[in-house]
Amino acid sequence: MSKSASGALLSTVEIDRNLKVPLYKQVENFLRGLILDGILKPKQKLPSSRELAEDLSISRITVKSVYEQLIAEGYLKSKTGSGTFVSEDLEFFSYKKLKSVMVKPAEVEGKLPDRVDPINLSKATIRYGETAPFRPGLPALDRFPIKSWNKYLFNAMSESGRYNLGYGSLNGSRDLRRSIAQHLADARGLRVDAEQIVITSGAQQAFVLISFALLKAGDTVWYENPGHIAGRDVMTAMGANVMPVPIDAEGLDLDYAKNNFDIPKLIFATPSHQHPLGITMSLARRLSLLKFAGNNNSWIIEDDYDSEFRYRGRPLPALSALDEERRVFYVGTFSKALCSAVRLGYVVVPEWLIETFAKATNLLGQNASPITEAALAQFINDGRFAEHIRKMRRLYRDRRDTLIEDQIAYEALLGKGIESLPLSVYCLQPIERTALVLGFSGVPRKRMPKLVKKMSETLRSIH
Ligand SMILES: Cc1ncc(COP(=O)(O)O)c(C=O)c1O
Repeated sequence: MSKSASGALLSTVEIDRNLKVPLYKQVENFLRGLILDGILKPKQKLPSSRELAEDLSISRITVKSVYEQLIAEGYLKSKTGSGTFVSEDLEFFSYKKLKSVMVKPAEVEGKLPDRVDPINLSKATIRYGETAPFRPGLPALDRFPIKSWNKYLFNAMSESGRYNLGYGSLNGSRDLRRSIAQHLADARGLRVDAEQIVITSGAQQAFVLISFALLKAGDTVWYENPGHIAGRDVMTAMGANVMPVPIDAEGLDLDYAKNNFDIPKLIFATPSHQHPLGITMSLARRLSLLKFAGNNNSWIIEDDYDSEFRYRGRPLPALSALDEERRVFYVGTFSKALCSAVRLGYVVVPEWLIETFAKATNLLGQNASPITEAALAQFINDGRFAEHIRKMRRLYRDRRDTLIEDQIAYEALLGKGIESLPLSVYCLQPIERTALVLGFSGVPRKRMPKLVKKMSETLRSIH
């Protein structure tokens, strides 16, 4: 039997030889736990490997390998000639203390940077987690071409040599940037050089980059109200004063903003399809907005998140296509046209900022994978992307018509297990209109009537 206190403690480890967890791992986890819980104290001596091996009826080699591992992790120290000890470096650390901080945030209030509050208040996490029918902004995941996409992923790994296994190019795959430039010319009337495109891990990373590069604390931002949640919240977290600009029949109400707010450093707009109200910004408003930005040295973010899908009228070219002064950052994403899990988007930046943006992407963590970039470039070049969009356009029109035809839905949309979002969530300031926002593209047509009926019954039952 070990004589030391630590030896007595350690001999209580319950080794279960029926478990799949190997013996050395069981002892290692137990020992690590005793140290983290503060039961074994810094500088405390451990039993020799021979003693412990005897106590636990395991081999001395096993105990030695446990000690070596914990020495490598910094939990233990070995002193030649004297034995093995709990590391004295852990003197200032107490897991118990850490736990109590975690449950009592009030104790650290005032010690955390100002940025923590807006991060905690952010509603941007709404888009995470499991999804239920009618969640806004979700494409038809049931129709994602998994088999075909897998082939492209497979080829990106196996055919293109080892290049895709590294970090890739600074501003994203050249092939993908070329494919996107071509797509923008065909679909959005935008003539951009592939060199102006910086690949991101989605629109949100583009908003983070732009905010990081352009905004100082206290800068004014004009932001559509109601408007996209995650973009607004990152600007607030960066310390900007984000001002809510109402939406009228022509889009962002420029006159209102001019009369009520300071000149902005940045304006955020969704001209093609206002998010979430769906209004298309008129040509006159686009021209006024560009003129205003040019005259006042303001930048504009054009978030063109779902321009591939239109169900009424012909699409206007992108705002960016009219931008002669180069004030617009055009942001695109594949989250809607494909799915958000591909984590690919891009920002078209004015020529003189390309390198800055590419470097900023890297600085903040290059989240796009060269493997998916390569797969997507080929997917676009082979016409698969255009084909998928055509199919989805038909499907979404059909699902949308099914929803709209049924007028009950408009009155009955109240969630009990049905994931609509209240319009107020999108608002920085309350607006008069009240509504629930529904995403139709993720709900198969067949399920639509049943779900609408369920919604209607729920609503009736609460009146
Ligand atoms: C208005 C708007 N812009 C952009 C995005 C896309 O974000 P991301 O590309 O980061 O997935 C979304 C998705 O929720 C959105 O609703």
